[in-house]
Amino acid sequence: MKKILVTGGAGYIGSHTTVELIQAGYEPVVIDNFIYSDGSLITGIEKITGKKVNFHKGDCRDKEFLVELFKTQGPIDGVIHFAALKSVGESVQKPLLYHQNNIESLLVLLEVMKQFNVRDFIFSSSCTVYGQPDHIPVNESAPFKRAESPYGATKQICERILEDSFVDGFRIVSLRYFNPIGAHKSSLIGEVQFGNPNNLVPYITQTAAGWRDKLTIFGGDYSTPDGTCLRDYIHVTDLSVAHLLALKFLDSRKEDTLYEAFNVGTGQGVSVLELVKGFTHATGVNVPYNIGARRPGDVEKVFADPKKANSVLGWNAKLSIEDALLDAWNWQKKLTK
Ligand code: NAD
Ligand code: UD1
Repeated sequence: MKKILVTGGAGYIGSHTTVELIQAGYEPVVIDNFIYSDGSLITGIEKITGKKVNFHKGDCRDKEFLVELFKTQGPIDGVIHFAALKSVGESVQKPLLYHQNNIESLLVLLEVMKQFNVRDFIFSSSCTVYGQPDHIPVNESAPFKRAESPYGATKQICERILEDSFVDGFRIVSLRYFNPIGAHKSSLIGEVQFGNPNNLVPYITQTAAGWRDKLTIFGGDYSTPDGTCLRDYIHVTDLSVAHLLALKFLDSRKEDTLYEAFNVGTGQGVSVLELVKGFTHATGVNVPYNIGARRPGDVEKVFADPKKANSVLGWNAKLSIEDALLDAWNWQKKLTK
């Protein structure tokens, strides 16, 4: 049984991945400082798996906390690093906070991993590293354009740190997530909005539930078929499974050191308007919306070329957008209750 440290495991993607890890027989050690979460998703993980989560509250920037954890938890086989601040809009307001948290967390974690000779590392990167790519679908060899936001810049800088530090004997996979949506099929865990991340699907479900009067679609004059932005929406459970396959990939490789980045997306570009209409089609619930101004910092269109993850990791998106929207809606109904 492999022991995997999961940072930021009380959050959205970390909690879903922890469920998959437990169900696949791994032994996750979960940490989170609760800056943008609370214990509710940890309780949800326990209900789904029937297992107590080995959880420790602490900050990835706190070296003493990490050293103590690595000492007391015994040998850790690998780390999946989700912990970060992720709101694009907030990062524009508080750039130094984003740089400080996201970059220092990574540096301190790598330092402690090196001290304890833990080498296998999976990093939560993002399609935001590409900026607005020249060619879509975008593949992993596309150059990084200037990041549209400080958040995006932190992901670019972290990837650069990881690329540089592979000489220290780390074996690293960066997963570049496209747009994760949906919730676990049990409706026991899902996306909880802390702060003001302003992501589309929670806005759709909250509007459908009557928590908000109207959804504003940011921009109807882009050069896309219906004038709204194109994204690659991926079910959070499919995304979680990619982490398990990345661990297996590292296991299967004999190199002492390596760095690989993979797009994790479906390869399908879907417009904001298509997603809103898809929600109504899947659930039968209407979502009042208006078309507003463009949101500063938004990329017009981006979707993945996922061939590398398909062929090297053996990963494929299995769940549809309809599945994701239904799961998001069931989770919203649970929250409303
Ligand atoms: P989330 O906010 O739900 O989870 C992140 C968790 O990290 C939170 O529980 C937060 O409390 C914790 N955290 C933050 N800083 C910490 C620190 N210094 N020490 C300990 N814990 C800390 O976000 P998420 O959607 O689950 O995202 C997980 C990762 O995936 C992040 O790195 C994010 O940047 C990346 N990502 C997310 C998306 C998305 O759209 N959700 C897309 C691409 C990449
Ligand atoms: C961005 C980043 C992603 C990052 C994520 C974290 C890009 C391309 N992607 O996703 O890497 O990890 O933030 O939060 O930079 N929209 C509306 N109305 C709303 C909310 C959103 O029209 O109320 C639109 C947006 O303009 C966008 C789409 O919906 O076109 C998706 O937005 P969102 O869910 O916020 O994700 P991204 O900005 O694509």
